[in-house]
Amino acid sequence: MMRRTAAVAALAVLALGLAGCGSGTTAPDEAAGGEVEVFTWWAAGSEKAGLDALVGVFEAQHPDATFVNGAVAGGAGSAAKDRLESRLRADDPPDTFQAHAGKELTDYIQAGRLEDISALYDEFDLRKKFPTDLLRLLQDHGKIYSIPSNIHRSNMVWANPSVLRAAGVDPAATYGSLDEWFPALDAVQATGATPLAIATTWTQVNLLETVLMSDLGAQAYLGLWDGTTAWTGADVTHALADFGRLMSYTNADRDTLDWTDSTQAVIDGAAAFTVMGDWAVAAFGEQDKVAGVDYTYFPVPGSADQFGFIADSFTLPVGAPHPDGAKAWLETVSSLEGQTAFNRAKGSIPARIDANPDDFSAYQQASMTAFGHLSIVPSLAHGAAASITVLTAIEAATRAFTTGTSDLTTFQGDLAVSAGWRSGG
Ligand code: GAL
Repeated sequence: MMRRTAAVAALAVLALGLAGCGSGTTAPDEAAGGEVEVFTWWAAGSEKAGLDALVGVFEAQHPDATFVNGAVAGGAGSAAKDRLESRLRADDPPDTFQAHAGKELTDYIQAGRLEDISALYDEFDLRKKFPTDLLRLLQDHGKIYSIPSNIHRSNMVWANPSVLRAAGVDPAATYGSLDEWFPALDAVQATGATPLAIATTWTQVNLLETVLMSDLGAQAYLGLWDGTTAWTGADVTHALADFGRLMSYTNADRDTLDWTDSTQAVIDGAAAFTVMGDWAVAAFGEQDKVAGVDYTYFPVPGSADQFGFIADSFTLPVGAPHPDGAKAWLETVSSLEGQTAFNRAKGSIPARIDANPDDFSAYQQASMTAFGHLSIVPSLAHGAAASITVLTAIEAATRAFTTGTSDLTTFQGDLAVSAGWRSGG
């Protein structure tokens, strides 16, 4: 609970600019039952294991309801979000869908896609169960539009100690900055192993955001999203150069892979490090890998004082065919039992403030502490910092840079345009 209090002020920054004109009616208050199509991108591996754990609680809490899995494969919703958009445009919404707290959710609210579910917060007694400023990221004009299931951290490095030892790198070494980390990557490079495993574009944007956090610091990183930090500045140029250098340590087949593959390269000992959100810890765990023995983790060097914030949440879309089933699903998502079962399997920490830390792994307990004490900064790659439109443009700019179509100067200009930055703020 203390961690939540400490996080509240920092989360308030994320809530800035969430004004708009949401629409919608109150969710129907019918008895739970019937089917519910749940749309996510938790389609395989440890992510499906997390969803399955939630479904297990759902089936116990709502035996009359039938879960219909609408998952679309592709990490970070790389395929799901497009598919969802075409379904919403065609007035064919699922009964509930996964959306990130912050700007991504605001997009859906302002497009009039979501029902106001504030009444469910009263019915399920949720008003005091989540951090106030997380709730603010789910609101528009005082109406709440989704229920958060979990909180992930984006700025983590995952490492294989055997690969490091083979390169003469101490697996217990700590790095205060990217500059301190580069020699370790060079040492691995010399052995022929992949220093830094990475995958397709969204994972590169995940890396990019952590480099910006590291090189700019929390304050200036936040400034990128509220117009007070110039995207065209020298500190951003420096960060992009570091990003380019990090990309030079990555596997050449990256654009054909997803995060599961790049994480697997670390698990299998083909690569020393990967930078990935902490859903990665669930992938290690699912394969019975032991923290501190088979793998280690630490914040991206230079960003240890920051918590790259991501929260998944579930919605009630306008026109959902089975609103009663959706309501039952939302009740399970919001419940302590649902959050405990789901997050234990997913690697994230519960959004609810009353979860018992003892129910979670050492990594997750550390993450709970980190969430309470660090600067909370919004993830770019996962919908907290930027709208889907801005993120899509930044992904295109990043792809151009990492595939060699643009150089650093062009990349920086593209990012400034994508983020809508103009001199003068
Ligand atoms: C994020 C999401 C996480 C996890 C990850 C990888 O966007 O918030 O829960 O699913 O993508 O797919």
